Amino acid sequence: MKITTLTNPLQTILLTCRYKDKDNIMTLDWHTPLSFNPMLYAVSIGKTRFSLELVKKSKVFVVNFVSKDLEKEVLFCGRHSGRDLDKFKETGLEKEEAETINCPRIKQAIGYLECEVIKEIEVGDHVLFISKVKKAELKRREKRLFHLFEDKFTTTIQ
Ligand SMILES: Cc1cc2nc3c(=O)[nH]c(=O)nc-3n(C[C@H](O)[C@H](O)[C@H](O)COP(=O)(O)O)c2cc1C
Repeated sequence: MKITTLTNPLQTILLTCRYKDKDNIMTLDWHTPLSFNPMLYAVSIGKTRFSLELVKKSKVFVVNFVSKDLEKEVLFCGRHSGRDLDKFKETGLEKEEAETINCPRIKQAIGYLECEVIKEIEVGDHVLFISKVKKAELKRREKRLFHLFEDKFTTTIQ
């Protein structure tokens, strides 16, 4: 049995990252808050992901929270690699600059965390990045996106 059969639904986010002139977006279910003070947040990135190379080098990323309306774009970013194409261009998701780190954010996101990596831990086939949250903002309250399985999602009541 796959572990996610028990753990899902999990809130799906879009992680944005940048190294040199490469900006990328990946879809990610495995993320969690860790501490209020200091504000710490963790994401788990698979070893085969292009985003892993970018985050390892830049030590920064943004966690973009999205509404159920972005389901199609989220699936695209979770099924294509930034090695082969520009996911901003392909999905129409728009870039805005993060304010505290050198990294793009997604304009359509309902909220975000600007994160700076403080620790990197190998965990099996993934790498866990523990980060300090440099800026957090909730822009609008909308129904969030939660992953059930495969291409099926659900949402919150409000
Ligand atoms: C709903 C969903 C959730 C995902 N969650 C994760 C995750 O938590 N960690 C991860 O490494 N990959 C996850 N993926 C897979 C990556 O998003 C996918 O491999 C993507 O193509 C990586 O892009 P990149 O190579 O441009 O970094 C998820 C995919 C989907 C569709």
